Amino acid sequence: MSIIHNAEKSTITLHTDNTSYQIKIGPFGLLQHTYYGPHMEEDAEYCVMYRDRGFTLTPYDAERKRWLSAELMPLEYPCEAAGDFRAPALSIRRKDGILIGDMRYESHRIEKGKYSLEGLPAVYDDTEEAETLTVVLKEKNTNIRAVLQYGVLPHRDVITRTARIENGTEDDIVLTHAASACLDLVSGEWDVINFHGRHAGERNVSRTPSGHRETVVGTRRGASSHHQNPFVILAEKDAGELHGQCYGMSFLYSGSFSCSVSGDAYGGTRMVMGIQPDNFDYVLTPGESFQAPETALAYSCEGLTKLSQIYHKLISQNICRGPWKNRRRPVLINNWEATGPDFTAEKILHIAEKAASLGVEMLVLDDGWFGKRDDDFAGLGDWYVNTEKLGCTMGELAASIRDLGMKFGIWIEPEMVNEDSDLYRAHPDWALQVPGIEPALGRSQLVLDFSREEVVDYILDHICKVLDESKADYVKMDMNRPIFDVYNALSAYQSRGKIMYKYILGVYRFMEKLLERYPDLLLEGCASGGGRFDAGMLYYCPQIWCSDNTDGIDRIRIQYGTSFGYPVRTMGAHVSRVPNYDTRRIVPFDTRAVIAMEGTFGYELDLNTLSEEEARQVPVQIETFKKYWDLLHNGLYYRLTDVTHNTKEAAWMMVAEDRSEALLNIVVLDVSGNRPNRFVKLAGLDASASYKDEANGAVYSGAALMSVGIPLPKVPHEKYHWMRDLGEYESVQIHFTKVTD
Ligand code: GLA
Repeated sequence: MSIIHNAEKSTITLHTDNTSYQIKIGPFGLLQHTYYGPHMEEDAEYCVMYRDRGFTLTPYDAERKRWLSAELMPLEYPCEAAGDFRAPALSIRRKDGILIGDMRYESHRIEKGKYSLEGLPAVYDDTEEAETLTVVLKEKNTNIRAVLQYGVLPHRDVITRTARIENGTEDDIVLTHAASACLDLVSGEWDVINFHGRHAGERNVSRTPSGHRETVVGTRRGASSHHQNPFVILAEKDAGELHGQCYGMSFLYSGSFSCSVSGDAYGGTRMVMGIQPDNFDYVLTPGESFQAPETALAYSCEGLTKLSQIYHKLISQNICRGPWKNRRRPVLINNWEATGPDFTAEKILHIAEKAASLGVEMLVLDDGWFGKRDDDFAGLGDWYVNTEKLGCTMGELAASIRDLGMKFGIWIEPEMVNEDSDLYRAHPDWALQVPGIEPALGRSQLVLDFSREEVVDYILDHICKVLDESKADYVKMDMNRPIFDVYNALSAYQSRGKIMYKYILGVYRFMEKLLERYPDLLLEGCASGGGRFDAGMLYYCPQIWCSDNTDGIDRIRIQYGTSFGYPVRTMGAHVSRVPNYDTRRIVPFDTRAVIAMEGTFGYELDLNTLSEEEARQVPVQIETFKKYWDLLHNGLYYRLTDVTHNTKEAAWMMVAEDRSEALLNIVVLDVSGNRPNRFVKLAGLDASASYKDEANGAVYSGAALMSVGIPLPKVPHEKYHWMRDLGEYESVQIHFTKVTD
């Protein structure tokens, strides 16, 4: 049993292999949070400090018990308007604008299996070891309920949370905030680690003390966004990669979100994750309910690496689905950086022929094959093949690609429409825009109202025709603008929060139906690169294009930041041309390959433009990727250098779970003449074992590799007989195997 109810103590404890989480049904039915940390069997009620603090509010029924203020307690699902003035998880307004929400415990139940959520992504369990706790809170004065659900995955060390708000009153109510999870910690000094960025510069790592204030990480852009990622860590002040306590919250949702961390007046810290409350105003009519998306919580007392590894396993085994979840994905070539939308079938075949001859396994035809899409001002929405431009049908092009022994994939951007399109001319009301107000344009396009089923069905139907014709093996599903103008042409009452929530449900429905119809399809997510890289999307797409920035060195930082919350196997990463189109930087060809192997691995350039020497390297790179694939995608991932602060070298490694082998990757970021010795410390090895460098037979002690490190390797000098240091942006990959005799 992972969930234990102790009726005598009024506690419910959720156990995973290494952690415990405890809830207490406190005085007057206030639902308290007593503990989340290393596994423990006891009652942690002592963590709730009852003191009479001046000038706080107490529930009316607490009478003279002034020590019973909600503001002084760690709470499971705090509601604004009940004497708790800290950041709320729930805010409810009556129709007349009055805040209500005195939520008290009503009942609970414990069930086998992990709950699922209709229409929303959710962690699943196929081992039958998971359990679900449901706690019902009832608003004291009305018939409003909050149904909290907790999923316990014991072997993953993960607890999921979600909440459903039910309006059992006779009137409309407005949810102004309905978060998915709240974590109240009663002590400790914590840093907030969040992943911020911009287009072509996603998921930079920021670490700041949470302090005595509210820190809000979030977005209002309609997508989880390049700007902030819905994965946030609370780390003990001194926690590092391999030591210290940290908590993670990963939100399985792809729209606007907010994660707030606030230090209270008495030393506590509260973290709340959920849908963005700004302009949420979700109207619940009588009998209606709102299901908040899910948040996956994890705790590690062994530092950030362990926390990341928990999420890596969770995402790859309990969030990603379908036949591609554990299968090696085909090494692909995408034509976007080579041609943009300016191509014909002949041009594409020329790229494909060379790629096939070098061992590439799939060609992906990017933006530009449909409607009148010769640039990004027109065509979105018209999902019929432009045979005139291609010079053939999509079926013919796909067949020619298959004749080369390759698989075939296409790019789509189903949620969007250009004003210059047949679709928009026929259905202007299908685009999100407010009558009488000029809508904002993003990349000269508007957003289709995916909260409407008929819109989703129409687009899906047209895209399916192309997929049927081409028998595509793969789809890259893009989304290239933020959302601002929100209006539902069919509804009298415009609840922005409701439309945007239903929009995201529409996106999920689109993907679910697509995958139902083509169960073997490999779906890759994309939003101008990594603008919707979240655990919600990964429920449908086992990989997401990590960034439009394909500069090798920038990519190291982007993939480093991404690795905190997401596994390598989900990161779309390709080798592209140099000088890089954006940075103009020249990174050696083999280094670009080493970096792309920290991802799904593929190419994004015309391989015909390579030098003979580079072309000779392509099959070698592909073979290397295949050889190490198991280790790269199933190994435990270790960040060895902090590339946010260490500008000298980037190093990361993958270690087999049984520690029998490891793959070390080092890229030199900065050089100087006659340079001092530089060592990289390894991690995750068996300290009592020896490891052999498979390339040169050198044997090292596991303990020494992890305490002293390995000196940056030298490589043969091109001209002289001696070995030289690695130059700027040069890299090495070292395969270590454990010496067993
Ligand atoms: C976005 C994607 C790119 C490419 C273009 C096509 O920017 O991130 O990879 O597909 O759109 O328009």
